[in-house]
Amino acid sequence: MLTIPTVTLNDGNDFPELGLGTYNLRGDEGVDAMVAAIGNGYRLLDSAVNYENETEVGEAVRRSGIRDELLITTKVPGRDHGFDETVRSAAGSLERLGLECIDLYLIHWPNPRVDKYVESYRAMLALRDEGKVRSVGVSNFTEAMLSRLIEETGVAPAVNQVELHPYFPQQHLRAFHAAHGIRTESWSPLARRSELLTEPVIADVAAAHGVTPTQAVLRWHTMLSSTPIPKSADPSRQIENADVFGFTLSGDEIAAISALERGRLWDGDPDTHEEM
Ligand SMILES: NC(=O)c1ccc[n+]([C@@H]2O[C@H](COP(=O)([O-])OP(=O)(O)OC[C@H]3O[C@@H](n4cnc5c(N)ncnc54)[C@H](OP(=O)(O)O)[C@@H]3O)[C@@H](O)[C@H]2O)c1
Repeated sequence: MLTIPTVTLNDGNDFPELGLGTYNLRGDEGVDAMVAAIGNGYRLLDSAVNYENETEVGEAVRRSGIRDELLITTKVPGRDHGFDETVRSAAGSLERLGLECIDLYLIHWPNPRVDKYVESYRAMLALRDEGKVRSVGVSNFTEAMLSRLIEETGVAPAVNQVELHPYFPQQHLRAFHAAHGIRTESWSPLARRSELLTEPVIADVAAAHGVTPTQAVLRWHTMLSSTPIPKSADPSRQIENADVFGFTLSGDEIAAISALERGRLWDGDPDTHEEM
């Protein structure tokens, strides 16, 4: 079994340097895939109300028999923004997960036109005080949105989960996170297996270290101090993806991979994109 290292979040909780994405892992096959990942050493599972798989995540936690070692993430959907709505949403997530506590609770998208993410955040902090949430974070937040949360509540989120891969390295946002003690988490870290994995520069870095292109990309994430959450339904690819801590990329290699930057791959600008 692999051992995935951890870092300490700004609230004092430990957080793995790599986790499992669970989008599209549903039904019995989804549970099997999550149980396999936990058996292979994964401790962080990333779910959301809108993935419609919280029940499966909870089932995988129970089957693993190691609930206390696991860190389960779920997210407030846009339709549940607002203080009371978020408290209700959390209750629904806890029930579907079958857990007493959400280890990392995120606002899935800021939906700035609705303008209720600060209220949701206050509710999440209250849930943390009640022991129903361990760490409070956000997803798809810009620097301006993070600044507003900090100004209005005095509490920096523990995590901001954002689109991040070699085509969109998010240099400025990562620097802002570092300055405010916010842990970066990378969604779609493999750019959803697009042509990224056949880029010559990634092939060269991988060959230099005797690893696969996927491993080179995931090590690039961890060396940028971001926690990637690659999704794989396949146990052998799960092992490949998590086995990235035995080699170190040079500064030049990190820069060469980051030079693939070309911008967002999907229509996910947090200032305009809305998800309910
Ligand atoms: N907060 C947000 O707004 C947001 C948005 C998008 C995603 N997410 C989270 O981020 C997670 C990861 O993102 P993602 O699922 O979009 O994309 P991803 O992890 O970048 O890529 C997943 C794809 O890569 C394949 N893959 C995984 N490991 C591989 C390997 N070693 N070799 C070849 N192919 C491999 C998977 O197929 P197999 O399953 O067949 O291996 C799947 O098709 C999601 O599952 C979700 O939890 C969050």
